[in-house]
Amino acid sequence: MGVGLLTSPRTAEAISGGLTPGDAALLRFPAALEILEADFWIQYNELGGIQDDEVPGGSGNEAYTDALEVIEDEMQDYIHDNTDDEITHHTFLNAYLVSKGAAPANLDAFRTLMGSTAMGVNPDLVGHRLTNLTQLTIDTSWWTRYRDDSHNPDLDPTHVFPQAVPTLGVNQHTAIPRNDADTTDPNFLQAIANTAAFHFPTIEQGGNSLYPSLAQRATHTEVLRILISIGPTETMHFQTWSDVAGNAPPLTAVDPVTGVSVTFPDLEVEDELFDKALIMPEPCPFLDRSLPIVSIIRPTKTEGAAMGALTFLTNMGLFIGQSPAFFAYMTQLAREADKARHGRG
Ligand SMILES: [Fe+2]
Ligand SMILES: [Fe+2]
Repeated sequence: MGVGLLTSPRTAEAISGGLTPGDAALLRFPAALEILEADFWIQYNELGGIQDDEVPGGSGNEAYTDALEVIEDEMQDYIHDNTDDEITHHTFLNAYLVSKGAAPANLDAFRTLMGSTAMGVNPDLVGHRLTNLTQLTIDTSWWTRYRDDSHNPDLDPTHVFPQAVPTLGVNQHTAIPRNDADTTDPNFLQAIANTAAFHFPTIEQGGNSLYPSLAQRATHTEVLRILISIGPTETMHFQTWSDVAGNAPPLTAVDPVTGVSVTFPDLEVEDELFDKALIMPEPCPFLDRSLPIVSIIRPTKTEGAAMGALTFLTNMGLFIGQSPAFFAYMTQLAREADKARHGRG
């Protein structure tokens, strides 16, 4: 621990070939997250996106795709393009690290999860997934966090923002058909598609907060530029998906395997905290309550941002089935990123 503090920026820079260890860590943790993001977006694309050379491997699941298109008729394109974006994010971040003589993020040893066996998946990747989309517990409080003009999680860390879909926030839910049996009941299949529609913005709002949170501690201008250029594409994903999610048809369904019930409420309501039409970020307090409210991304507090993101994804159930070595590796990357300080490597 003390070693990092004693290393001068100049010496530190030499260690990582042009990048300070802190800057390298601020890029390596997102690179790992982007590998994980790409992994689950690829699973979504195989089943519900466009099948082409840009995002190859799947063959599409007609019943799941139809259920997704009930929510948004351009869903296949959006899933495909979001997947493509994530693949380029980790590819670029790792290539940049390597170009500076710094170690890239590598999760290949952890490609061990089963994933779906439903029609449409890439058969070569069954049993070789990094992430688990079949046991999700989804925190949909971002829905009201961005509609609330009097609370900011950075200023009100104990404030509880209500959930848009409370039943998704408890128990475990699948966002993809686990196998072909899951596509036989149209109501349950629509619930699976609706779960995906709320999982998309939930993930993307996380990235939309993470990048500005980390960027505040970058030392080199170019590292800052990378973080503030990728971050807003996560915001564009979030904005698109938060608009789409509001169109998930209201329904209640029970998972025939787990017995877990889910209810998607009608969000076409007058209440400003829930109204699906209010997709622009409502202004809220920022930095200090003596200042006027302002329309911003929130949270963006930098302390512990990387560990916070890892905890958020872990609590979501995205890594259920992963090994202790996986969590140890991700925790180390997060700790290193959170140790980075602007101007101090
Ligand atoms: Fe990304
Ligand atoms: Fe993303």
